[in-house]
Amino acid sequence: MAAMQTIRNIVILTGAGVSAESGIDTFRSAGGLWEEHRVEDVATPEGFARDPDLVLRFYDMRREAIQTKAPNPAHHALGRLEREWPKQVPGGTVTLVTQNVDDLHERGGSLSVIHMHGEHLTVWCTACDTRRRWTGPLIHRPPCPECETPALRPDVVWFGEVPYRMDEIIVALQEADLFVSIGTSGAVYPAAGFVRMARELGARTLELNLEHSQGSSWFDETCLGPASEIVPTWVDELLGR
Ligand code: OAD
Repeated sequence: MAAMQTIRNIVILTGAGVSAESGIDTFRSAGGLWEEHRVEDVATPEGFARDPDLVLRFYDMRREAIQTKAPNPAHHALGRLEREWPKQVPGGTVTLVTQNVDDLHERGGSLSVIHMHGEHLTVWCTACDTRRRWTGPLIHRPPCPECETPALRPDVVWFGEVPYRMDEIIVALQEADLFVSIGTSGAVYPAAGFVRMARELGARTLELNLEHSQGSSWFDETCLGPASEIVPTWVDELLGR
């Protein structure tokens, strides 16, 4: 790891692996979500247009399920890092970008999370273009509380749609001294390209994962193991404990 005094701004990218030990299926594991479902059926605008009931039911089940899960030590450690890093390095920042649509980072104490692929617990009204917190089902087509049109859809970025808050993410990558990727396979762009971008912009790069990801060669360092163990260890090390 780079000497700590050279690290000021940290960008962390998380994927499904950080929530795996909380009991949320990853996408590309054996028995994972994409093995049970065709991506084009449940995670594309075309799939939604073709069979909205199938898609709404799929996300209703996922929305219900995540509310029964709890954050694990990896989520808690990242929350701690965000709170304590600026005290340790005045002016230092931690930007947490997640591809996950669960809320376990927030429940693990992270205050400011960039959900680039959206969130299970918000809905998007395609009629009035508002978003709001939503914990119940959508299958019965409830009206939008704002405009009363039954046009609510999961606020999840599907394949073919543009991820959220990319401008902010790019700025954070430009300013990063350290880029850390946790529990993501590196299979889905643009997130999979962040490591290369960060590295070319001068950041050190670290991968924390159960196994090497597709972009493993772009990382200066890789630490393999379950997120619930290796993330708290890395955070402790960074905070000098
Ligand atoms: P994947 O399912 O592709 O990859 C999960 C990664 O987590 C793999 O690299 C595993 O090795 C790792 N992993 C599994 N268990 C772990 C553990 N206990 N500790 C640490 N790592 C572990 O999930 P993502 O990379 O997040 O997008 O997938 C990226 C995007 O593809 C998702 O956001 C989703 C999906 O299609 C959309 O739906 C738009």
